[in-house]
Amino acid sequence: MSNETANPQDAWAFETKQIHAGQTPDAATGARALPIYQTTSFVFEDAAQAAGRFALAETGPIYTRITNPTQEAVETRIAALEGGVGGLLLASGQAAETLAILNIAEAGDHVVASPNLYGGTYNLLQNTLSKYGITTTFVEDPDDPESWRAAARENTKLFFGETIANPKAAVLDIEAVAAVAHELGVPLVVDNTIATPYLIKPLQHGADIVIHSATKYLGGHGTSIAGAIVDGGTFDWSADPAKFPNYNTPDPSYNGLVYKDLGAPAFILKARVQLLRDLGPAVSPFNAFLIGQGLETLSLRIERHVENARKVADFLEAQEQVTRVAYASLPSSPWYERAQKYAPQGAGAVLAFELAGGYAAGLAFVDALQLHSNVANIGDVRSLVIHPASTTHSQLSPEDLAAAGVNPGLVRLAVGIENIDDILADLELGLAAAASFTAETTTAGA
Ligand SMILES: Cc1ncc(COP(=O)(O)O)c(C=O)c1O
Repeated sequence: MSNETANPQDAWAFETKQIHAGQTPDAATGARALPIYQTTSFVFEDAAQAAGRFALAETGPIYTRITNPTQEAVETRIAALEGGVGGLLLASGQAAETLAILNIAEAGDHVVASPNLYGGTYNLLQNTLSKYGITTTFVEDPDDPESWRAAARENTKLFFGETIANPKAAVLDIEAVAAVAHELGVPLVVDNTIATPYLIKPLQHGADIVIHSATKYLGGHGTSIAGAIVDGGTFDWSADPAKFPNYNTPDPSYNGLVYKDLGAPAFILKARVQLLRDLGPAVSPFNAFLIGQGLETLSLRIERHVENARKVADFLEAQEQVTRVAYASLPSSPWYERAQKYAPQGAGAVLAFELAGGYAAGLAFVDALQLHSNVANIGDVRSLVIHPASTTHSQLSPEDLAAAGVNPGLVRLAVGIENIDDILADLELGLAAAASFTAETTTAGA
């Protein structure tokens, strides 16, 4: 159960860490690739060892819901890539969001969040967690740090945002928002799914906790659902014991352990031994292996994803029937300067654009594509497309659609790593199909 990123791996470059961090040849067999420890449980040498592991007096696996060597290698690697002190791999990105929030806030507490969030996370905060007594205020203007401060209350326990949020392609001002959070004595938790640590390392900019839907670019091949939490190890949970009693008072469910006494990785150890133990969203060893396999080529894939995304964005911006392209690496983006600061290599590979022909044009575009797959996913080597107004955002009112930046003619792309000529040729098929529609021939939400 080692959550510390060990030396000398700290000195390795990103490309080396993504292959080697967290894994050495298997001690028992010499297997070079990461073995899949497809087992529920681990035999203790004797009763004393069993007791020691349960008491956290010695490290070592007990039961795959809580620890497993395949999971451990992958979570250690993700933590190394983000520059954190520990990681936790979970069954899904949603499980990671949920555990990260519940590891800080409880009934009666309050969260301040950007409204620019993945729909599932917005729903978790707005509807599900509120039923359990954790309420959320979505800041009015996430680009204004003072708007974050204005939303905070006495019982606020964390700030939450996405480093790059789709479909608006909005970039979070991590440093400014972290500064306000820290002035108020609360951590900044960010979802770094779209950027990946290759493009943005939020911990270096002041964020305290990083979350991933590993389902997306970390795994990268559209095969497995998983999530990750990384602990920056820098937030002082003991500075205000009254604000964070769960870190400063004995946990009766864990031999009276006081989590702050665990030092830098207190957050991630508590998430594992308390919340993962009790709530149970463990990732399967096989899915952990697939995420680990994906990580080995993360930098290479992201470089190609970004290169293709830039070309797609430029191509779309030059089209007459495209009224707007949302991609933060385009100079036309309101978040261009911020993207240059936080993600100078490129603002990921998820972009959205609006067709003048509106809703019907959006549907015609998606249906005409042959290479792109029409799916509710991002972060696959394959190019993906979706028409948000008729799918992911179809339950929203016209006002909420406008606030989310989802107009009827909006199309979202997750640009893959195929040959760019084939991607552009496919987009041309879509544009040809959409060209016969005008805003007058189609009505919003029709
Ligand atoms: C930015 C972001 N965060 C979190 C999630 C949730 O992840 P998962 O689907 O792995 O539960 C998603 C899924 O689309 C996402 O795009």
